[in-house]
Amino acid sequence: MIAIACDHGGYQYKQMLMQHLDDRGIAYKDFGTFTPDSCDYPDYAKPVANAVAAGEYEKGILICGTGIGMSIAANKVKGIRAAVCADAFSAKATREHNDANILCMGARVISEAKALEITDIFLDTPFSQDERHIRRISKIEQL
Ligand code: RB5
Repeated sequence: MIAIACDHGGYQYKQMLMQHLDDRGIAYKDFGTFTPDSCDYPDYAKPVANAVAAGEYEKGILICGTGIGMSIAANKVKGIRAAVCADAFSAKATREHNDANILCMGARVISEAKALEITDIFLDTPFSQDERHIRRISKIEQL
């Protein structure tokens, strides 16, 4: 189960991504925003980050204009590893190496096609389980 949210900057991309998740048969909960009106991204990053950190959702997807504000906000929550991705290599690497549990994307940065590609890679790539990556993630948790 995926938790997804956006601000006004990511509203259209969220609509597109939810359609894509529907097409793939992947269940999700939409945490808003529910209109294209201007809003504050931390208000949407917070519930998604808390729900993923609590284990209620396997992963999260957050979209804003750049992806950066969402990632800064989400990473304030302990246990969250939110990664801004704008390319396929980073999406794969952040799953394999960082076990990232929230994907952040910038609707003003990447195309719709790239957002779909990155989302699929993020959702489909397992964590490597390599000892060195487990050790490094555990050091993040101790910060
Ligand atoms: C909204 O204008 C914009 O600041 C927001 O979508 C995001 O890019 C913040 O990081």
